Amino acid sequence: MKETNLSALKTRYGIVGFSDKLETALATALQVSNTDLSVLIQGESGVGKEILPRIIHEHSRRSRGPYIAINCGSIPEGTIDSELFGHEKGAFTGAVGEREGYFGAADGGTLFLDEVGELPLSTQARLLRVLETGEYIRVGSSEPRKTDVRIVAATNVHMPSAIRDGRFREDLFYRLSTISIKMPPLRERGRDAVLLFKKFALETAEKYNIPQPLHLTPEGEEVVKSYQWPGNVRQLKNIAEQMSILSQEREVGAETLAKYDVLPGGGGTNVALIGDGRTHRDYDKEITWLASAVLELRKEVNELKEMLNIHENKTTTARLLTEKQATGTLPTAPSHDFTPTEQVHTDTFDDIETAEEIVDSDILNLEEMERRNIIRALERNNHRRGKAAEELGISERTLYRKIKEYGIEE
Ligand SMILES: Nc1ncnc2c1ncn2[C@@H]1O[C@H](COP(=O)(O)OP(=O)(O)O)[C@@H](O)[C@H]1O
Ligand SMILES: [Mg+2]
Repeated sequence: MKETNLSALKTRYGIVGFSDKLETALATALQVSNTDLSVLIQGESGVGKEILPRIIHEHSRRSRGPYIAINCGSIPEGTIDSELFGHEKGAFTGAVGEREGYFGAADGGTLFLDEVGELPLSTQARLLRVLETGEYIRVGSSEPRKTDVRIVAATNVHMPSAIRDGRFREDLFYRLSTISIKMPPLRERGRDAVLLFKKFALETAEKYNIPQPLHLTPEGEEVVKSYQWPGNVRQLKNIAEQMSILSQEREVGAETLAKYDVLPGGGGTNVALIGDGRTHRDYDKEITWLASAVLELRKEVNELKEMLNIHENKTTTARLLTEKQATGTLPTAPSHDFTPTEQVHTDTFDDIETAEEIVDSDILNLEEMERRNIIRALERNNHRRGKAAEELGISERTLYRKIKEYGIEE
């Protein structure tokens, strides 16, 4: 029974694959569809997370109700609350009319919150309230409204780290993940990669009237199976499409695949360059993260320096006061005990200056590296920001900000 259900499901949604992990994910989605429980779908970018919320909605008692999918990473931080929860007329400058918001609009249906890990903390608090009480409050209002919405969320963010770093509320995580579904990376699905390659090659041939679809040789199949597919199904689809259109060779073996950087056991164009199994994308992601961390550090050093500056001024004042008190020109006040010796003080200060110089020169390099990474990612993705952001592992909003910050011309 389960099998016929699953194969019918796959046909209906154009899903290809027989690996246990994929089938478990699909079966779980079916099983929980007719409950109202919140579902959190976790998995790397490009694994097919967006297929599941539709399945869940269309197999639920809500299937006749609205289905609204929102990408939390692409809505600007300034408007996200009003988009989700609506706003009253005049709630903020520019709020000429009132707005219902997605939570109101999805009443009786399903709301898919994609990239939920990108939600700002203040919005997370509002979302938690809806999940706990079934009520939400429009921006600029104090009156709670009822809504009957089933939430399905998805993320490629590593939740334990996000919680540890204070970027995601732990209580919200538990609320969202009443049911947790893990979409496996393509490299853990065995022969599914080969089947998917065939599917995409056939579809592209049909779409563009190409007389002879690509055919993988046994050797080519081995390569497709052993390659790590860091961008998962999305990457495989792109490559199969590109090859279908561009390749003169219709029998695809290791050599043809190598021209597209699909190498046996490889995981991306720059694996050899990096040399530790990390992919180019992993590397770009790390640099982006590292640069932010160092920029934070610089801010902290500056703050520390400022504090010391204030401290030094106070120390000087305190010393002058003490001198004046000693000479009898001023009465003695309760001591604030600003009495580090001048020697110690200067040393501390010098250390900070040096640290800052080092940090500053490294920041220049990091910023430059990050800038180049962003340009490369944009180029690789034909300047589609959504795709570039996804590849860099940052939200579209963050990418947009960085493009502006670095003055990158597109
Ligand atoms: N098992 C699958 N069979 C067929 N197509 C798939 C499968 N998994 C993913 N896809 C396709 O791969 C692309 C990326 O999937 P998507 O759901 O957008 O990934 P994610 O949201 O996890 O980043 C989409 O075009 C999707 O239709
Ligand atoms: Mg997605």
